[in-house]
Amino acid sequence: MNIDIYYFSGTGNSLAVARDIALRTDGKLIPISSVIDEEIIKTDSKAIGIVFPTYYEPYGGVPLIVRRFVDKFENINKKYIFAICTYGSGSFKALKCLEKIINSRDGKLAAGFTVNMPNNMAGSSINNPVRQEKMLGVWKENSDFISDQINSRAEIRFNTPNVLVGKLYWLIRILISPLIFLFKPLTLRHLKRFSDSKNDSYSEMLHIWIKAFIIMVIVKFVVIALKSVQ
Ligand SMILES: Cc1cc2nc3c(=O)[nH]c(=O)nc-3n(C[C@H](O)[C@H](O)[C@H](O)COP(=O)(O)O)c2cc1C
Repeated sequence: MNIDIYYFSGTGNSLAVARDIALRTDGKLIPISSVIDEEIIKTDSKAIGIVFPTYYEPYGGVPLIVRRFVDKFENINKKYIFAICTYGSGSFKALKCLEKIINSRDGKLAAGFTVNMPNNMAGSSINNPVRQEKMLGVWKENSDFISDQINSRAEIRFNTPNVLVGKLYWLIRILISPLIFLFKPLTLRHLKRFSDSKNDSYSEMLHIWIKAFIIMVIVKFVVIALKSVQ
């Protein structure tokens, strides 16, 4: 085996992707959680893969454990690095953000792939079984191509099609991007309040979640009403 595939996975999507890639590249699967407590993370392999889910895309999208992993990796500047980022609704920045973190250690993200998978984010609606099947089908179709790129140590960026919004993906991305600027200061303010609060952070958080939930229910009602009018 000449490739180490490090993965972080909350509910199994990224693990499934990492496993498929390991099979096709004769790679060794290593959970990031099993090495993250080491002072220095190192390997003799010349190539490493990092597979992870998008977490909070507007704020970079790279889970903290993955950032810490990169920071601790010895001789990262001497490796061929590929990354696969799974996502539920959209991952526009996560690979770019990871690239910056790797660059800050003088390394280079040679290849990056995004893979649309069932959404496990609290508060988002669960993708229906048909859509889930479709996503897994798209992954199966693309996994050979992605593995071939990794096996040939290619330098490439590749996004699997977004099943949720299909061909309108880029249009929606352009339309939604400005909204992120609106929500970002608001969310950051709330997050700052959590980090400052000493004892009551849970009840405070609950309060905001209830507000967010009520707004979400109202928005859903409006959407359903609009659909039934059409
Ligand atoms: C805390 C959290 C934040 C998330 N943020 C995003 C996000 O910003 N954009 C997105 O497309 N998906 C987001 N997701 C969905 C996951 O990226 C997606 O479902 C992923 O495939 C889960 O992979 P896993 O099963 O390996 O954990 C989030 C999920 C969680 C739990």
